[in-house]
Amino acid sequence: MCMYSVENQDGIATDWHVVHYGSRAQGGFGTVIVEATGVTPAGRLSPYDLGLWDDAQVDGHRRIVEAIHAGGALAGVQLGHGGRKAGTPPWRPDVEGARSGTLPDWDLVAPSAVAYPGHAVPRALTTAEIADTVQAFADAARRAVAAGYDVVELHGAHGYLIHQFLSPLSNTRTDAYGGSAEGRRRFALEVVRAVRAAIGEDKVLDIRLSATDWTEGGITGDDTAELARQLVAAGVDVLHVSTGGNAPAQVPAGPGYQVPFAAQVKQAVDGMTTPGGGQPQVVAVGIIDSGMQAEQILVAGLADAVAAGRAALRDPYLPVRWAHELGVSDWQAAHLPIQYWRGAWR
Ligand SMILES: Cc1cc2nc3c(=O)[nH]c(=O)nc-3n(C[C@H](O)[C@H](O)[C@H](O)COP(=O)(O)O)c2cc1C
Repeated sequence: MCMYSVENQDGIATDWHVVHYGSRAQGGFGTVIVEATGVTPAGRLSPYDLGLWDDAQVDGHRRIVEAIHAGGALAGVQLGHGGRKAGTPPWRPDVEGARSGTLPDWDLVAPSAVAYPGHAVPRALTTAEIADTVQAFADAARRAVAAGYDVVELHGAHGYLIHQFLSPLSNTRTDAYGGSAEGRRRFALEVVRAVRAAIGEDKVLDIRLSATDWTEGGITGDDTAELARQLVAAGVDVLHVSTGGNAPAQVPAGPGYQVPFAAQVKQAVDGMTTPGGGQPQVVAVGIIDSGMQAEQILVAGLADAVAAGRAALRDPYLPVRWAHELGVSDWQAAHLPIQYWRGAWR
């Protein structure tokens, strides 16, 4: 979850990030995935984002990782490039012009010179720049490993660069990186292969996808099911299934609204093998707000794990609350920090 809290605008983590992410680990989350982190300065969603485009940013991430590990969780970082949606002021209402269009003088790049409504028109990346961007993802992933992260998550969702390449709504290229589903998938698959090579086989490689654009002519659940198989074959362990963000379409958001897409992806990759020799894992997300709802998704076999976004901003101890709600009595099986276990039962 973007925190927009790098006040120095240098992509370097501060005490805020260490305490914020460490708290969620102490609250019992199994894996804490750190916010969208820029692989290039121009790829940041806002000037206040974390970065991993420079070796000088590794130490700050190492502090975050140590705090997450001290809380007993696995540490993940989401690597992203905003493409045509980069360089926007943050959502923070204390920052002038919050949520307006693109900031002036931002080098806005994308697969094609097609603007996201309300944002500036980006320039289309050249093939040489595409290769540089793939390399930037790989370099950032190498730094993530140096910082100690267990999981590298690629941001392939919510209308950012990887998603922009995947979707016909934003990719009108006629070269090898567009023109057909195969062409539109090329960038994502190249990033996955380069990142897998950079992190080795022991680290978990996760990708977040928007399964549908919720818009005529955009990506569908069927497209994503096929893509998921190709991503696993290219080296992905975990598929984290979200939706939307590449068009201002009305999303029918309600409890568990994205779970059917996770279930479709899970079915598509069933029986495949990951580089580590395991089964690909599928994460469901989106208004999963109670322990009972989360448990139902898992018991019904719709996903292998669930993620919480806004609920985790409301409550760093959400897993303790859910354990209480579900009457979990085996503290070792629940993997909650022992210090807070007493909060899970009467
Ligand atoms: C403040 C805020 C920041 C977010 N930042 C990110 C992000 O950095 N990366 C990402 O993939 N999704 C991000 N999202 C989307 C959430 O991760 C999540 O997919 C979405 O909020 C739906 O899940 P929820 O109902 O559990 O919040 C953000 C959402 C919000 C509200």
